[in-house]
Amino acid sequence: MNLREFESAARELLDPVHYDYVAGGADDEVTVRANEAAFARIALLPRVLRGAASRESGVTLFGHRASLPVVLSPTAFHRLFHKEGEVATARAAARAGVVMITGMASTVAVADVVEAARAAAPGRDPAVWFQLYLQPAPGVTEALVRRATEAGCAALVVTVDSPVLGAHTRNARNGFHDLPDGLACENLRDLLDGEPGHVRQIAMSPTLDWDDLDRLRASTSLPLLLKGVLHPDDARIALDHGVDGLLLSNHGGRQLDTVPATIDLLPEIAAAVAGRVPLLLDGGVRRGTDIVKALALGATAVGIGRPAVWGLAADGENGVTRVLDILRRELDHTLALCGATGIADLTPALVRNATASAG
Ligand code: FNR
Repeated sequence: MNLREFESAARELLDPVHYDYVAGGADDEVTVRANEAAFARIALLPRVLRGAASRESGVTLFGHRASLPVVLSPTAFHRLFHKEGEVATARAAARAGVVMITGMASTVAVADVVEAARAAAPGRDPAVWFQLYLQPAPGVTEALVRRATEAGCAALVVTVDSPVLGAHTRNARNGFHDLPDGLACENLRDLLDGEPGHVRQIAMSPTLDWDDLDRLRASTSLPLLLKGVLHPDDARIALDHGVDGLLLSNHGGRQLDTVPATIDLLPEIAAAVAGRVPLLLDGGVRRGTDIVKALALGATAVGIGRPAVWGLAADGENGVTRVLDILRRELDHTLALCGATGIADLTPALVRNATASAG
């Protein structure tokens, strides 16, 4: 019926340690809760008697026409949740006409993820974007970008909120620190030097700075998005450094705890970006009404993290498909109730109680 029920279904099926890994966040999980609570606090104020027989919900992202203003945000380790892992997720996204951001910490190699998306949507051009953590050794970053580019990824999403890993209390208590035997971060297998079959560790590095981003910018012509910029000043700096888009994200409350809900930050970031590049948002999106609120406040599209994992855990490809179908139906229903002919009609006039823009 709705996305929350997928969480219950997944919870019954998953190892409780793996459930906690997905559901949990950093420290006291203040931000995990805030993301959803902030959406609930914002009210929608509909218009009336502006009927339209159907409502347009497609959006163009970097030249790609997506059927929905929803992308799959990058989440690690899909084979932990379903045997087909990222292959199942990619098929569901491609068939739904939705962008999938595949993670650097994927348990299926990026070439196989893109191949699965292509095979699932013959005749279409599925969009898979690659999420990247800049690595302190530039050669490693370059090798990963080469892999993603050769695989056919259409954009790079650089996650910049993780100079060190967030402190996840649940994982620490559960003793969950690594993938079980038989699963690995396949994008880091046989990368550069090392024994054949060797899987390199993903490095989080507090030494990274804008120079590292400039190096990446100069090395690729793919669209480059930054994920995890929260301060409006950093949003402006990012644009000065030539990024092509931003994904406003607090990592689902999994990095620095007590940062604001992303939807509360959106007006400030939208003001800083001023329409110059696409602005995506993730964190706490669970309903069609959440999508409408985010788009009304200036987002080009939203991302979902946990809900796709719940769908995957509940029923593989079919579960992810159903999660996207539910969002599609709820979005259309909300647009109709708001008196909108499509997502193009969504403006701040449609919401009340949103955090005032700092301009
Ligand atoms: C994530 N997220 C994430 N982000 C990223 O940039 N690289 C990654 O490897 C991961 N891995 C990851 C694993 C799991 C299990 C979760 C739940 C999340 C964060 C993700 O991209 C996204 O920002 C949030 O999940 C969005 O919030 P919601 O939709 O989960 O509330």
